[in-house]
Amino acid sequence: MNELVDRRLLGDACVEATERAAGLRRLPLDSNQVLDVEKIANGTFSPLTGFSGSKDYRSVCEDMRLADGTPWSIPIILQVPSALAAEFSVGEEVHLWNDTEDRSSGLLTVEEIYEIDLTEQAEKVYGTTERAHPGVDRMMQGGTTCVAGPVWLLTHSESLIPPAYDLDPAHVRAEIANRGWKTVTGFQTRNLGHKAHEHLQKVGLELTDGLLIHPLIGWKKPGDMLPEIILEGYELLMEHYYPKDRVMLAGLTTAMRYAGPREALFHSIIRRNFGCTHFIVGRDHAGVGGYYEKYAGHRVFDRFTTDELGIIPLRLHGPSYCKVCDEIVTEAICPHGPDGWVDISGTEVRAMVGRGECPPSEIMRPEIARFLVEKAKVGAVFFEG
Ligand code: ADX
Repeated sequence: MNELVDRRLLGDACVEATERAAGLRRLPLDSNQVLDVEKIANGTFSPLTGFSGSKDYRSVCEDMRLADGTPWSIPIILQVPSALAAEFSVGEEVHLWNDTEDRSSGLLTVEEIYEIDLTEQAEKVYGTTERAHPGVDRMMQGGTTCVAGPVWLLTHSESLIPPAYDLDPAHVRAEIANRGWKTVTGFQTRNLGHKAHEHLQKVGLELTDGLLIHPLIGWKKPGDMLPEIILEGYELLMEHYYPKDRVMLAGLTTAMRYAGPREALFHSIIRRNFGCTHFIVGRDHAGVGGYYEKYAGHRVFDRFTTDELGIIPLRLHGPSYCKVCDEIVTEAICPHGPDGWVDISGTEVRAMVGRGECPPSEIMRPEIARFLVEKAKVGAVFFEG
């Protein structure tokens, strides 16, 4: 298993560094940047130890690899308004400041300050420059100057989820070892499970000792599900339909990028860091609005060996409900498509719940459908625009 980066200062080292930080210039971070610092520090983004410099940035954009050849597909950079970046100099230690919560986040030693071309990044990483793409839009709101260098975490931000779900990679690895699982399938999601998700997860459960359901909790586009709904809903789903000792639920607190195939790779590397041996990539993984081909997320793995990734992608084709078979099927096992197949999609679930209708049992477990509709009556279920 790969080594985990740990850049969290604790005890006396933290007290001493916090005192030193008080005398340093502050670099204000938004909530997504704070999460990036924390993910670098707790090893979620291993092998990164800080925000990338220009060599790694270019190499990631061009080749989906860090400059030393290590697979890495989404740039982890600190975009800063140019006027602010001009205040800092190479070699300086700066105090990373959690602007939203008005408190300390960490320290960064400036190794490089460099310019990037946002349009070029949009093209290379997201495959489009359209601002209608939510990941492109968010990235383009950032500055064109990047400050790079290693970070140390001093203070954790207020958690987006209850502590029982906010588990770092070392904790999840220890839990996996404790359960005696030798092989584990990781499942990324930004929504609560419908029957296509469940099918994919259960393929994973057939193949490996355990399943880590690992919903992404963080910045998302309007229409995606709220964290508490996903977690509460998954507890319900697991209680009724999953073998108790073979599934773990934890949250991954980082922003969605909606970068399709590149994000599929990124998500798999993260789950490797959490101790997974296998990772599910389904249809239009991390996609949005038709920007990516349905199975581009499968093909991106052709460029890498399993050895260099350290995780095996389970490239699964989309489950649908078959009217003839009256069950969830895939094209690998059912001859009745496409006419006999009913597509299962989060968009459809959202539309139904919005109308106060219970999604039918062909596409969603009744407990989950009822849970969503009840929740929608008393509050929000989805991020709103
Ligand atoms: S994602 O942004 O996290 O990919 P989502 O939560 O919808 O979105 O999907 C989680 C995983 O299930 C992804 O691997 C995705 O490819 C897969 N998936 C979602 N819906 C389907 C579907 N109807 N058919 C096949 N795969 C799906």
